[in-house]
Amino acid sequence: MKGKSRRSRVVSTETSGESQPTRAQSLVVSKPTDEERVTDFTLRPRSLEEFVGQEQVKKVLSIAIEAARKRADVLEHILFAGPPGLGKTTLAHIIAREMGVNLRVTSGPAIERAGDLAAIVNDLERGDVLFIDEILRLPRAVEEVLYPAMEDFELNIVVGRGPSARTMRLAIKPFTLIGATTRAGLLSSPLRDRFGQTFHLQFYTREELAVIVRRSARLLNTAIEDDAAQEIAKRSRGTPRIANRLLRRVRDFAQVEGAPTITREIAERGLELLGIDSCGFDRMDRAILEAIVDKFGGGPVGVESLAAAVGEERDTIEEVYEPYLLQEGFIARTARGRVASPRAYSHLGRTKQGLLL
Ligand SMILES: Nc1ncnc2c1ncn2[C@@H]1O[C@H](COP(=O)(O)OP(=O)(O)OP(=O)(O)O)[C@@H](O)[C@H]1O
Ligand SMILES: [Mg+2]
Repeated sequence: MKGKSRRSRVVSTETSGESQPTRAQSLVVSKPTDEERVTDFTLRPRSLEEFVGQEQVKKVLSIAIEAARKRADVLEHILFAGPPGLGKTTLAHIIAREMGVNLRVTSGPAIERAGDLAAIVNDLERGDVLFIDEILRLPRAVEEVLYPAMEDFELNIVVGRGPSARTMRLAIKPFTLIGATTRAGLLSSPLRDRFGQTFHLQFYTREELAVIVRRSARLLNTAIEDDAAQEIAKRSRGTPRIANRLLRRVRDFAQVEGAPTITREIAERGLELLGIDSCGFDRMDRAILEAIVDKFGGGPVGVESLAAAVGEERDTIEEVYEPYLLQEGFIARTARGRVASPRAYSHLGRTKQGLLL
């Protein structure tokens, strides 16, 4: 499925003006660093075929793309949800490329006024993809302009004020909106309902991550042994972005050690230096587990108290750290708060009274 009609063009207006993470030591924080923006470009899969894992998502997407292309139709609006680094942006790029259309990239916080959005959608060609990252953070007034734009491909613009105010309707060319969010549940229902399909991306398996690590190593011209790739995969928190981060750091380590190939031993020592433990947890993951176990007697503890105890923002805990700890069964969510599971106790080397470990 190659773009045949016209070449895809990518226009980016990702200028939210927000700074990149300053806590460079944390390998888990959500957004890519500047160094990564460059390597991300090299490592990012260009087609669904190259995209590893998320088999169900790929299958449904490739059918939708092929059908739309055969009918020379515009693809339905798509929402991608899931924790950071699982491939939402990558998939948006792939879709535009496979549809052979232009991609316009922006983000919720970057679109401040309704007029900004109107200008963007008015500029789109038929079938183009508009990618809105962090769509949850779209200002309310902008979101309202988006509804008729998505549904009827028209812009309702209010002219004038007070009693003489009128709404002008402006037709726009049919386009595909691709939204990305880490928290689909928080999206307003009118917005959610306007997406033809919603895909929830899942954490990757260890085998899939090992394939990604080997592929990235190849693209970075780095020799890596299979069991070293497995080791990195195992500690990547189910997340391709983290797998690539760890690979780059281990590759630096191998270089400094004068090792021509990344062996398991080099990988293990490199990861240890980074403070990544056998489960792939970093300092903050462990701080969260320790706080629940040591300060709150194993829980239940509310997320606000937990955030205060570890000195991290509540949102970051909920969006970045918790999903993986939950999925791996280290913590559980109850109506009264978070509780540590037996697995958390044994990982920290603690015992809980009355609990057989
Ligand atoms: N399925 C995959 N196969 C190979 N590499 C992948 C895959 N998914 C993601 N990656 C790699 O991980 C990096 C992060 O992916 P991406 O930027 O698409 O994540 P995201 O879900 O948009 O994250 P965020 O929520 O932080 O915006 C990509 O640059 C790419 O190199
Ligand atoms: Mg993204």
